[in-house]
Amino acid sequence: MSKTVPTNRNAYIITGPTSGIGRLTALELAKHGTVVLVGRDRGKLDEVQKTIEQRGRHAVSVVCDLSDFASGRRVAAEIVALNLPIVGLLNNAGIFPMRATKNALGWDMAFATNHLGPFALTEALVPHLPNGANVVFIASAVENPEHTSPPRPSASAAARCRARTPTPRRSSATSLR
Ligand SMILES: NC(=O)c1ccc[n+]([C@@H]2O[C@H](COP(=O)([O-])OP(=O)(O)OC[C@H]3O[C@@H](n4cnc5c(N)ncnc54)[C@H](OP(=O)(O)O)[C@@H]3O)[C@@H](O)[C@H]2O)c1
Repeated sequence: MSKTVPTNRNAYIITGPTSGIGRLTALELAKHGTVVLVGRDRGKLDEVQKTIEQRGRHAVSVVCDLSDFASGRRVAAEIVALNLPIVGLLNNAGIFPMRATKNALGWDMAFATNHLGPFALTEALVPHLPNGANVVFIASAVENPEHTSPPRPSASAAARCRARTPTPRRSSATSLR
């Protein structure tokens, strides 16, 4: 946390604002109010905050490792202490590791980062949010145990795809499977 931020403008909390969907959303949210950037890497947070401020908007950064529930709760207290009129919380941060690992408490790292950590953060913030505040969780369909893979493209669909490719290559056909 560094500079003074206006306390008379709506504020939006976003986790995982340092890349991908979260970064773009943070830049967009900044057009509507102060953005509270929640991420695990101070350097990356500084970069996003600087980009927002260079555009004449306001942001404040707090460091939080969402795979660590204690960190989530501590950061919630830090955010509350900012005294901002928070109208939205966007739980965007998430990982999709190729190999299973565990956090310090022995929980699956992806489950801890994508669900338990955001829940701890949200649970600690909710008593301080005004009525009508929006709390949004972003998740992936691949985490849904009932999710089934989309059907593979039929032979005719693959053929149509190949027909549209000026120079048909084996790799483009293979990527459809
Ligand atoms: N992209 C897709 O196609 C897609 C599809 C379905 C759902 N989603 C969901 O959309 C969300 C964003 O996806 P994305 O593709 O934009 O992801 P991304 O580019 O990989 O960004 C993930 C963000 O989460 C942060 N993060 C990761 N672990 C963290 C931790 N332990 N503590 C705090 N922050 C952490 C990352 O911080 P660092 O920069 O420090 O790593 C980064 O800011 C995720 O929840 C994902 O499951 C994405």
